[in-house]
This record gives sequence, C-alpha cells and structure tokens, in this order.
Amino acid sequence: MSQYPPISEQLDDIEAARDEGRRKMDWARQHMPILNALREEFERDQPFADQRIGMAMHVEAKTANLVELLADGGAEVAITGCNPLSTHDDVSAALDTHENITSYAKRGVGDEEYYDAIEAVIDIEPTITVDDGMDMVAAIHEDHPELIDSIVGGAEETTTGVHRLRAMDDDDALDYPVFAVNDTPMKRLFDNVHGTGESSLATIAMTTNLSYAGKNVVVAGYGDCGRGVAKKASGQNADVIVTEVEPRRALEAHMEGYDVMPMSEAAEVGDVFLTVTGNRDVITAEHFERMKDGVLLANAGHFDIEVDLDALSDMAVDQYEARDGVEAYEMDDGRRLNVLAEGRLVNLASPIALGHPVEVMDQSFGVQAVCVRELVENGGAYDAGVHEVPDELDREVAEIKLAAEGVDYDSLTDAQTEYMGSWQHGT
Ligand code: NAI
Repeated sequence: MSQYPPISEQLDDIEAARDEGRRKMDWARQHMPILNALREEFERDQPFADQRIGMAMHVEAKTANLVELLADGGAEVAITGCNPLSTHDDVSAALDTHENITSYAKRGVGDEEYYDAIEAVIDIEPTITVDDGMDMVAAIHEDHPELIDSIVGGAEETTTGVHRLRAMDDDDALDYPVFAVNDTPMKRLFDNVHGTGESSLATIAMTTNLSYAGKNVVVAGYGDCGRGVAKKASGQNADVIVTEVEPRRALEAHMEGYDVMPMSEAAEVGDVFLTVTGNRDVITAEHFERMKDGVLLANAGHFDIEVDLDALSDMAVDQYEARDGVEAYEMDDGRRLNVLAEGRLVNLASPIALGHPVEVMDQSFGVQAVCVRELVENGGAYDAGVHEVPDELDREVAEIKLAAEGVDYDSLTDAQTEYMGSWQHGT
C-alpha cells in the first residue's frame, strides 16, 4: 500500500482551502448544464454503485464537478493530477471532503511524488480508469497487471493520451477497453479548437500583460488545437504564422490565409511562439539562436517536451524569473527569450491559469460521464483496445446541451432518411 497522503493531510489551512475550492466548483457548476442534467439521472439511478474509479486529470473546478458527479452516482473515486503544475490545491481539498472521494492531487509536486500519488490512486483497485494523458493506464499495465482482470474499462481525455493508447494497442499491449473520448465531435470540435485557443491566448496575455495586436504569432501544429489558436490569435489582430509537418494541414493553413513556413524561418520573425503539436523538439537550439530579443515561448501540447528547455538553459548566460510564470533566458548577445509556465501546457500550468472555459469542459466531461455509464452497463461488450465512443452517446450529450441553450433544430423526415440510406436514387 502506498503511504502517500491525501491533500487534506498536506495543507496547512485546510478549512480555508476547502471553502475557496468549493466556491470555485459552485461557480463552474452553474455553467455546466450537461453535467447537471446527468446528475439528476445518476443521483436517482446510482449507476456506479460498487464501482471504484481511479482518475488522473487536471484537478481544477470543472474536473471536480465531473468527479463529484461520478461519486454522487455511487462510485468510490480516487483522483490525482495528470500534470505537476495544473492542480488547484483548494479544489483538490474541497473534493477530498466528499465521503466517496479521496484526492491526492497537489500543485508543484516533483516527479517522485507525482508517481507516488498515481500509486495511491491505484491502491483503490479501480474497476474503471479515467485518464488525461494515459499515465494511469501505463502505471497499471507496467506495475499492477494483476488488477487488469477486474477493470471493466477506461476513458481517455486528450489527443496525446489517445495516441499513446493506440501505439500500445498496436503492440497488443493494451489489456482492457478504453474509450477515445478525445476523438468525439462533442470534445474535439469544441474543447481542442475553442477551448485551447481561447484559454491559451488569454493565459499568455494575462501572464505577460502584453497584446497580440500587430505581433507575429507562430503556431506550431495546425491540428484541432492549432486551428483554434490561429483563428483566435488572428481575431486579436495578430499576424499568424503556422508551422506544420503534414502537407494537407499546411495547405489548409495556407488556404485560411496564414503564412506557412518552416520553424527555422518563423524563428527569425516570431514575437510569440505557441506549440500545440503533441510532438517533441519542435523548438530547439537552432531556433533559439535566430530569435529576436523579448520573444515569448509557450506550449499548449500535453507534455513539456515541445520546447527544448535543456538546450535553452545550456545556451543561456543568465536565467531569472521575469514575472510570475515567466522565466527569462538571457543569451550572451543580450537577447532575452521568455518561457511561460516552464514549457508545460500554458493554459493549465501558468500560475494564473484557469484552463478551458467552463462551457466546453461541460461538453468534454459530459462525454466522459456517459462513457463511464456505458462501461458499467455494457463494458463486457468491448474487447481490450481503443474504442470510438458510440455515436449515440455523443449525440445524447449534444442534445442535452442544445435543450439547455433553448436551441431547436430540424429532424430528418422519413423520406429523407430513406433517401440518405439509398443507393438507387440517381439523376
Ligand atoms: P492533432 O493531432 O489534431 O494536431 C497536431 C498537429 O501537429 C498535426 O497536424 C501534426 O501534423 C502537427 N505536428 C506534429 N509534429 C510537428 C512538428 N514537429 N512541427 C509542426 N507541426 C507538427 O492534435 P491536437 O488535438 O491539436 O492536440 C495537440 C496537443 O495538444 C496534444 O498533445 C493534445 O493532447 C494537447 N491538448 C492540449 C489541450 C490543452 O488544454 N492545452 C487541450 C486539448 C489537447
């Protein structure tokens, strides 16, 4: 058994932390109609009675509402963070007061504590896992394979986690079913596009007190997240430059009117750099050498490996905290390159970061919640491996949201349904 203590045993002023965490959760809850609708169902039906859910996610106010929803639906839940810097300790403390929840998440932990906390979560012997980045699934497969037989399945929140799971599945190494929540329209088209775009840009602006207007903003990676960042930076009067490695994505960015060029060229003209590739070594020493004085370097990809901070540190003659959440690296020619949030996902790891807007996380976590319900109801029907979320579940979440927003929409007539399903109607 892990000796790692829950957050309530780690904070000094636990009462004050709990109150503040609860206040943040209540605010988010007011703006989460999907989770609130599911709450009515889950409190009534108790679908998760007898389930133990192990979670590794960004522990902040929106996630906390998902966690409480699952606990109020009868589950015993243990949770920790999925990034050392994204936890809000007060929210973690508020969660830990729930009789069905133990929270081990704490901001600013080192590598060893980070993995000790994951071990502590695994101690509940989960029947279901909910991950953001796949660290929980990896720890169970590597160190606790004896638990796999009793695990019904899991759900994965983000692109990088789904990539890792698919790689594991390709190697026949994934031994229980996991839903790729990230890949659903209700998650990807809103959370990745709008959420990452809005929250990353807002966090950079608030952290630095600088404007985008008239600046060259370099977006590395034109996937779902990059598309949103580029659009919203452009809406704030930035000149957007996109770097890509995939020709169709590069062409799409070009046709949207952005400048597309290799990072080696973008490095010379960029004022703000934001990496969202999910890949490693996107901005490296050869790029740092060419950058202008005063540039801002930020990452919104899942891991802190997109900007090569080891190389930057080696090149710097001086390094100091220029502002809260901004580390300046001074080169021998006097140029200062400013790194935000230690190169970790800026919209969650910056000191002032709040993560995505509440509304988009309501959608993502609505999909998570119905996936957990699906695992309990029909988990036996899924083989080990990565699974797409059944479309009717994603539609269910969209319908709840549209109803909450008072938005009505059309339905197919019988004739239209027949026509759409037929190959016999031609010219
Ligand atoms: P995606 O797969 O849709 O897009 C990534 C893009 O980066 C692809 O077009 C790929 O060709 C490109 N790329 C790969 N290597 C590159 C390189 N060296 N240079 C330039 N472009 C490169 O993935 P998505 O959904 O946009 O996610 C990107 C990352 O953001 C992932 O790590 C994901 O987990 C993370 N994420 C972060 C969020 C946040 O809150 N900060 C929210 C959602 C996702």
